[in-house]
Amino acid sequence: MKKYLLITLSFLLFSFTGFQSSPQQKSSDKIINARVDSVLALMTLDEKIGQLNQLSYGIGWGPTVKVSVPDEYKQMIKDGKIGSFLNAIGAEFTYELQKIAVQESRLKIPLLFGLDVIHGFKTTFPVPLGEAATWQPEIVELSAHYQALESSSAGIHWTFSPMVDIARDPRWGRIMEGSGEDTYLGSLMSAARVRGYQGNLSNENIIACVKHYAGYGGAEGGRDYNTVDFSDRTLRDIYLPPFKAAVDAGVETVMASFNEIGGIPSSGSKYLLTDILRDEWKFKGFVVSDWNSIGEMINHGFALDLKNAGEISINVGLDMDMESRSYITYLNELVDEGKVKESVIDESVKRILRIKFMLGLFDDPFRYCSKEREQKNIMTNEIKNVSLDVAKRSFVLLKNEDKILPLSKEYKKIAVIGPLADSKINPLGEWNALGIEEDVISVLEGLKRYVGDKSEILYAEGCKITDPSKDGFKDAIEKVNNSDVIILCVGESRSMTGEAYSRSSLDLPGVQEDLAKELLKSGKSIIAVLMNGRPLSINWLNDNADAILETWFAGTMTGDAVAQVLFGDYNPSGKLPVTFPRTVGQVPIYYNHKNTGRPGDEKNRYTSKYLDLPLTPLYPFGYGLSYTKFNYSGLSLSKDKISSNDQLKINVNVKNIGSYDGEEVVQLYIQDLVGSVTRPVKELKRFQKIFLKKGEEKTVEFTISEEDLRFTAADMNFKSEPGLFKVYVGTNSVDVLENKFELVE
Ligand code: GLC
Repeated sequence: MKKYLLITLSFLLFSFTGFQSSPQQKSSDKIINARVDSVLALMTLDEKIGQLNQLSYGIGWGPTVKVSVPDEYKQMIKDGKIGSFLNAIGAEFTYELQKIAVQESRLKIPLLFGLDVIHGFKTTFPVPLGEAATWQPEIVELSAHYQALESSSAGIHWTFSPMVDIARDPRWGRIMEGSGEDTYLGSLMSAARVRGYQGNLSNENIIACVKHYAGYGGAEGGRDYNTVDFSDRTLRDIYLPPFKAAVDAGVETVMASFNEIGGIPSSGSKYLLTDILRDEWKFKGFVVSDWNSIGEMINHGFALDLKNAGEISINVGLDMDMESRSYITYLNELVDEGKVKESVIDESVKRILRIKFMLGLFDDPFRYCSKEREQKNIMTNEIKNVSLDVAKRSFVLLKNEDKILPLSKEYKKIAVIGPLADSKINPLGEWNALGIEEDVISVLEGLKRYVGDKSEILYAEGCKITDPSKDGFKDAIEKVNNSDVIILCVGESRSMTGEAYSRSSLDLPGVQEDLAKELLKSGKSIIAVLMNGRPLSINWLNDNADAILETWFAGTMTGDAVAQVLFGDYNPSGKLPVTFPRTVGQVPIYYNHKNTGRPGDEKNRYTSKYLDLPLTPLYPFGYGLSYTKFNYSGLSLSKDKISSNDQLKINVNVKNIGSYDGEEVVQLYIQDLVGSVTRPVKELKRFQKIFLKKGEEKTVEFTISEEDLRFTAADMNFKSEPGLFKVYVGTNSVDVLENKFELVE
């Protein structure tokens, strides 16, 4: 009884001695650390282990849902055996769970509620690969901010996002969840999402979780969960920087990945979880496993059994166990056997308690459980308008023959054809949280809303996405023959990209291309609207469609976004964050490749190339057209030599020589010509998205310094090396102006 009073007193003490203020006013970690230590001192070993245990809870959403917590979970919460739930959703339901924790458990430690809020909670935004195509970190930050507003209003404290895995193999279905193939772009997007989610940690913000640490996108063959094996230099220079950017942006949690790197599973890697993350980067937050990634070390052949897996993970610094139940089952035993020190567990517990204090959950465990906020802050017009804007900015114009776009408003009959034309589920993409198809505006709906009674829309599905049946062709052909122009909506289903959705082909699935070929016979112009979560080898469309608009999976407002872009209300400004191969046989193909000893040369047999393919991809990294045209000239450097404390100013003139106002992503790449190790032929180092009225010209200035030239050299030190560099500036990674400079000692 005495101890109970002490606990309550200590809890009350902290609640009423000036800590009533919300977390963002907390003066410093010092105060939080003191509060953490005071709670830790009261905890039994079992209670400590309970904080490291995260379980999933599937439940419908919304205040109307009758919440019923199974006895098993009720008891575990009361016994302090669960520290966090994922997938428990809704102000009312999380309130029910939290109430058990803070009123019926011995120490009243609040629960942490996590969810995959990847590109929207209820209002769905474009999938992250699409958001990356905006090349606007500020827009991506805004998107994350609104995702946090919606989810935090429904009881969520924590999202398992941003996913920052560099992906160079489009067969890998999770390429959709990241920001593509480039480290610099991916790092900026990573930091932007962390800022957007976490903000100032008010109760309109959520804790972010940078994932999947690390190297997950390097899966051999693009086959999800497959072996990853690349050099430490590749790890450090290509795959780790977006994680470091998240840590530098203050991300509070990291998720360990399923994969191994060079024989060591990330969830059991001291090198990743302690040496780099803690010792080098000074990361203070906590690490959560991926779903049973601790247990999967048995399959990897890295752990003997679940107990051994838990012993390995906790000892290398993996703090919270998502769904393997290794920690809750075996840690007590492992401490008794001297295989795990209680002090190690203490460190993990402290990291987790720190987050709960920072979120203000000890001060007010129900501060995220307001049904009034839940009703007020979700699926508002404000958020939908932001989602619409992000969608339009995410679109990439891949082709526009004879300026057929913007679509003339003179067309009286518009055929809207294809399996994705009236789809409401697919624009959601995967990891759509509580986004539902009923809320989605399909392309067909958007076009109808846009044209009203000024044009007639004739719709036919034509075919399914994957089904081989051509029965629908006839109806489509009839509609097309009775129309002036064709808008053909083709691509992938949303369930072809995302987790465990790797494809061995990059072609349009099913008979969609056959449908397009039939429609072409009509002699009508084809405007292809592409919906997909990965690069596709759309060679036939590229050769035969008059225009191609890449829309990715654009979320709730897809139809309005497509209509407004096709008719020119918004001039598309997106650029590809990932290379589009001509065929899967070209994979891996990415812009920042090495030169090799025999760089590909069409005219020279004995060079690095394929007999049956050109050297170039279908569309290069950074590619994207506009309804207008931008001319680049006058690439000039402030110096031809710089030393380590210099800055190099790089100027280029960009003129809008077309007939529409528009935005352009001016891209700056460098090439380190000679190094102690071989260096990529190009590396993106800066970009600026500028707006130019038609006829307007601007001088765009970039500043780089020696720091931008650093890499992991032969001695494994991160540094620059004196020598010659080339500078490339242009509208994508291929069409560039060139200049050069020297870095001197
Ligand atoms: C999944 C994913 C991870 C996600 C987690 C929780 O398996 O790999 O990205 O955050 O489980 O849903």
